[in-house]
Amino acid sequence: MTDKTKDNKTTKPKDTEKSLTIAEIASYCKSTGMVFPNSEIYGGFAGFWDYGPRGVEIKNAIKREWWRTFVQQRDDIVGIDGTTITHPKVWVASGHVESFSDPLLECEKCKQRTRADHLIEDTLKISVDGISLDKVNDLVKKHNLKCPFCGGALLDARKFNLMFKTHVGPTEADSTVAYLRPETAQVIFTDFRQVADISRQKLPFGIAQIGRAYRNEISPRDFLFRSREFEQMEIEYFVHPDKTGECQYLTKDILKQKIRIYTEVAQQEDTDDSVMTFKEAMDENIIKNPWLTYFLSQQYNWFVNLGIKEENLRLRQHREEELAHYAKGCFDIEYRFPFGWKEIHGMADRSAFDLTQHMAHSKKDLSIFDEETKKKVIPCVAAEPSQGVDRAFLAFIIDAYTKEDERTVLKLIPELAPIKIAVFPLMKKDGLKEKAEELHNTLKKHIISFFDTAGSIGKRYARMDEIGCPYCVTIDYDSLEKDDATLRDRDSTKQVRIQIKDLKTTLEKLLAKEITFKDAGKPIN
Ligand code: GAP
Repeated sequence: MTDKTKDNKTTKPKDTEKSLTIAEIASYCKSTGMVFPNSEIYGGFAGFWDYGPRGVEIKNAIKREWWRTFVQQRDDIVGIDGTTITHPKVWVASGHVESFSDPLLECEKCKQRTRADHLIEDTLKISVDGISLDKVNDLVKKHNLKCPFCGGALLDARKFNLMFKTHVGPTEADSTVAYLRPETAQVIFTDFRQVADISRQKLPFGIAQIGRAYRNEISPRDFLFRSREFEQMEIEYFVHPDKTGECQYLTKDILKQKIRIYTEVAQQEDTDDSVMTFKEAMDENIIKNPWLTYFLSQQYNWFVNLGIKEENLRLRQHREEELAHYAKGCFDIEYRFPFGWKEIHGMADRSAFDLTQHMAHSKKDLSIFDEETKKKVIPCVAAEPSQGVDRAFLAFIIDAYTKEDERTVLKLIPELAPIKIAVFPLMKKDGLKEKAEELHNTLKKHIISFFDTAGSIGKRYARMDEIGCPYCVTIDYDSLEKDDATLRDRDSTKQVRIQIKDLKTTLEKLLAKEITFKDAGKPIN
C-alpha cells in the first residue's frame, strides 16, 4: 500500500533544528533554482514539482550514486528500465486495483475531500497508520470531527484508489483503461522471466530499476515529501524459497553495527525508540529475516556514507495492521524532518506474492530451475529496498542546510554537489577575466566547473556556499605574475595559494578525499 508514515514523538530535535520549517526549505530550493512548483505561470499544480538547473544535478548525482553502489559495484544485481504505463492486467494481478487506496472523507456541504488518517493525526495527534474505515467513522463520530475546509459535516469514510487512470489508443472506453505505475516494482516482476534468462543470474539475485511513479495522493503536502509524480529506486531481491533464512552477505561487522530502531512493541506501548545492534534486533525477533537485516544495513549506510547525520536516521518496524497487502514484514528508514520522523525508504519482505500472482493471471511460468535440487521453484522476494529519489533529495538538502553567522551553506559532500568548482576573476579587467575563463574552460572538461564574474568576490563566494559548491578558485593580480590562484574551501572558508598547473590534480584529489584541504597549497588565512 502507500507508504505509511507517521509523526512519532521521540528523539526531540536539537535547538538549532527547531526553527527550520519545510516552508523555509521549499523557499530556499526555489530561490536557488533547485526545485520550484510545476506550471507556476498557471498558479502551480498541487503535488507536482520541477527540478531546476542546480536541483537536477543533485538529483542525478543521487541516482548515479545509488546505481553505482547497488548495481554497478555488485555482481548479483542487474538493472532494467521499463515503461511507466503497462498492461492493465498487471495492476489487477498485483492487487493494486483492489487494494492500493487510502481512506477518504468527503464534506457533505462543500464536497472537499481530505485524507482521513491525516485529518485524524493532525487533529487528535494520534498515529493511525493502516486504520480501517469503521475505525475512521468511529473516531469521526466520537470526536465530532468536521471538514477542515468549511467546518461542515463529514460523510462516511470510503476507500480512494491512488492509481492515475488513462486511456490507451483513440477510444475512451472501459476496455482501453490503463494505469500510470504507482511503483516501479511491478515492471521488474513482469520482466522477471526475460531478465533471469538473459542475465544468467542464479538465485539469489536482484533486479533494480530507477524511474517515475505516479500516485493520485488525496492530500499532497510537505513539499517534495508527498507528491503525485516522483521517482523511485527499487530492487527486488529474489531468493530460493527454502533459503530465505540464509544470507551469505550478512557479516559480523554488519551484525555488530548499532542502530536506532522504533519497534512495533515500542509503538504499541507508546515508548521511545532504542539503540541496539542488528544482531540484537535479530535475536529478539524484531527483524525476522537476514536479507532484511542485510539490505537495511546497506541502504542505511548508503545514506550515512553520503553525509546524512546518523542522529537523523532510524529504522521503524511496521505494525501488523499497517502492512501492505503484499508484505510479510516491513521496515522504514525514517529521517527526522522538520515535521517529524517520516519514511524515506521502505524495505519489505514480499515473499513470493507478486510472482505467484503474475503466474496465476498471465498463465506463464515464472519459476526458476534450481540446479542444486533439480526442481523448479518460485523465488521469494526476501527484501525489496524501495527508495524515493525525491525524499532522499529532501533529506540530503535538509541535512546539509546550515546557517552560519551571515551565510547559508549547503554542506553537501562533493559527490552530491551540483557544481564541484567555481572559477572567478577578482576583476573583469586587466586580463584577469580572460585568464580565469581559460582556466574554467580547461577544468570543465574534467570537473563540473562554473564561471562567474558578477558582483563582489564576497557575493560570489556566498552564492556558491548557498548551493553547496565545495571549492572556489580566484584569479587575482598576483596570478598574472606568478601563475597561481587562491583556492577557497566552502566549509572552513580557509584559503590556500596554489600553482595553476597543479589545480586539476589537486582538485581531483580533494574531491576524491585523497588529501585534506590543509595539504592542498600554501595557507593564506
Ligand atoms: N514498491 C514498494 C513501494 O512503493 P512505498 O513505501 O509505497 O513502497 C517507497 O514507497 C518509497 O517511495 C517511499 O519510501 C518514499 O521514499 C517514496 N514515495 C512513496 N510515495 C511517495 C509520494 N507520494 N511522494 C514522494 N515519494 C513517495
